[in-house]
Amino acid sequence: MSTHPTASSVLDRVLVLEMVRVTEAAAIAAARLVGRGDEKAADAAAVEAMRAALNELPMDGTVVIGEGERDEAPMLYIGERVGLFRPDSGEVGTGPKIDIALDPLEGTTITAKAGPNALAVLAIAEQGHLLNAPDTYMDKIAIGPGYAPGLVSLKRSPTQNVTALAAAKGVPVDEIIACVLDRPRHSSIIAELRALGCGIMLIPDGDVAGVISTASPDTGVDIYLGQGGAPEGVLAAAALRCIGGQMEGRLFFRNDDERTRARRWGIEDLDRIYQLEEMASGDCIFAATGVTDGSLLSGVKRLRGGLLKTESIVMRASSGTVRRITGEHHKGHA
Ligand code: FBP
Repeated sequence: MSTHPTASSVLDRVLVLEMVRVTEAAAIAAARLVGRGDEKAADAAAVEAMRAALNELPMDGTVVIGEGERDEAPMLYIGERVGLFRPDSGEVGTGPKIDIALDPLEGTTITAKAGPNALAVLAIAEQGHLLNAPDTYMDKIAIGPGYAPGLVSLKRSPTQNVTALAAAKGVPVDEIIACVLDRPRHSSIIAELRALGCGIMLIPDGDVAGVISTASPDTGVDIYLGQGGAPEGVLAAAALRCIGGQMEGRLFFRNDDERTRARRWGIEDLDRIYQLEEMASGDCIFAATGVTDGSLLSGVKRLRGGLLKTESIVMRASSGTVRRITGEHHKGHA
């Protein structure tokens, strides 16, 4: 009989629900700075809180998507070892080797301006199962579950994708709602969608929530299109692996420096289109806590008596289980 842990038992050994404690800690720390106009302070607070919470978990974790490369991020840099059983912790014992993609504060500007959809986000998988995406942009396309594989693709134009989606849904094209980051670089996509007559939800920031909204019927969003951060793309892919849906991503490089960095990370085909399962494979767990109110989660709320209320979601690819968790935290212990 094999003594090697199976794919799912590796993640079993790290309590799934413990992931929520990590995102809760980051969200609560960032929430203190909502609307204060200081993106850096909000991000730093979330990073510090997430790191401390991660280091209490019984695992040997490696940050594969984090705050940046070692020389540019003092905490939660790519390659940083976290968890109780990280090599330098001094703890006796061993824990499962886990890869972690994290964004302690997805939506720093949103937080600074008290806008919608800021999240503390985390995804974990077995070692080697998350795409080590460099901090570049990524072209993304995503739709929710229940459609034929390959219905939409980055190889096709927005018009072709939206038309195919409308046909598959059995609705006219003008009933399709597309979510797009509100950026000048998306002017041609937006013009094309407007010419088709479909609705566009323009979001100021936060495309992890934007991608996930395609798989959440309440949001009314049918398709996500456009370019956002590559790390955020991998986090969103992990979420869609759990709740279902389709996504493709293609790295986009602004200059030769970014191309060189990508090659250094072992990416040979710079034009490759990554399928969902190539960005997050095997079993994985995705967790998020709302910092500000949004389509996916409510933000941190102050209740009477010094309580803080959080709303989180944690989901797992192997089981498809989605849990929504409300927490009430005493200020001094949050
Ligand atoms: P930050 O939390 O790092 O500010 O990211 C917010 C975000 O909107 C992401 O959701 C998105 O992927 C990325 O920024 C888009 O980048 P840019 O603001 O450069 O268009």
